[in-house]
Amino acid sequence: MIRSLIRGTGSALPARVMTNAELAAEVETSDEWIVERTGIRQRHIAGEGETTATLAAAAAREALAAAGIAAEDIDLIVLATATPDHTFPSSATQVQALLGCKPGGVAFDVAAVCSGFLYALTTADALLRTGTGTKALVIGAEVFSRLLDWEDRGTCVLFGDGAGAVVLCSEDVAESGPGILASRLHADGAHKDLLFVDGGPGTTGTVGKLRMKGREVFRHAVVNLSEVLNEVLADAGLAAGDLDWIVPHQANARILDATARKLGIAPERVVVTVDRHANTSAASVPLALDAAVRDGRIKPGDLVMLEAMGGGFTWGAALARM
Ligand code: UT7
Repeated sequence: MIRSLIRGTGSALPARVMTNAELAAEVETSDEWIVERTGIRQRHIAGEGETTATLAAAAAREALAAAGIAAEDIDLIVLATATPDHTFPSSATQVQALLGCKPGGVAFDVAAVCSGFLYALTTADALLRTGTGTKALVIGAEVFSRLLDWEDRGTCVLFGDGAGAVVLCSEDVAESGPGILASRLHADGAHKDLLFVDGGPGTTGTVGKLRMKGREVFRHAVVNLSEVLNEVLADAGLAAGDLDWIVPHQANARILDATARKLGIAPERVVVTVDRHANTSAASVPLALDAAVRDGRIKPGDLVMLEAMGGGFTWGAALARM
């Protein structure tokens, strides 16, 4: 059967690291509050010249090197971001040019905020399985620091910048073999006011800032994520106990714990990077996946669940055998 296989992963993080102590010098907060309520200890912040497209291209180069695939052989780029460098052209087309991919391939952005990588992965998987090429780059890249209200302690402590990428290749494999086994996406536009940017791009003529009612988002996140994880497990005919790893969106360590507890998954099976990356929106899942692949935790043959929930609301999950 034709499946999409994750052949390589990569990451890019801005050089500048901002600690909780630095933030506490600027807004009324403390390292203790941030660590206790979120698990975050530091975040990377993009500097001059670091943009969504440059970070995305750097992560993609790492993923290509890990996969042993040349940029010229890429047929499709799907890039998830809520912070594109320009209203248009898409950041995906900029990445195509930065990498030197062959002209004439397919490249586009997907906007689903923190669930963006799940949306991009599911879209790329569907396109590969229906014959739009055989080799894709799926990227999550964000520069959220430029959307933050740095006077709002309720949001500015939570986010960071970065990019993660995977090379996805369609191959003919046995039913018990590797690849994306199942995925589900959802959206519910009724909750716009709980998490949104109050301006931009283009059509409003304003540049907005991120606004969030964190406690309410938290409540929805735990319910929606447990439901979609159970749906994907049911689609694949598997149980939570079969999973080797969960690679969740890294919004808050307490959401990760609560979701794992609800599903009966041991906390040591959950990949956590929120402490060092904070919430990097669409980049967080591929950044966490790359971290666990590179440090040797995730191995070929492992059953890995990816999941995320974000603004919209949007949420989704995908199950892959590595
Ligand atoms: O990635 C997309 C999805 N996003 C999420 O999943 C985020 C989900 N939400 C969360 O992670 C949490 O709700 C937060 C971390 C945002 C907030 O944690 P919380 O435990 O829900 O706190 P809260 O918003 O209910 O605020 C509790 C108190 C408030 O003070 P009062 O009203 O009790 O006096 C806040 O003003 O904490 C105060 N507070 C802070 N104090 C110190 C809020 N932010 C800070 C801060 N430092 N940075």
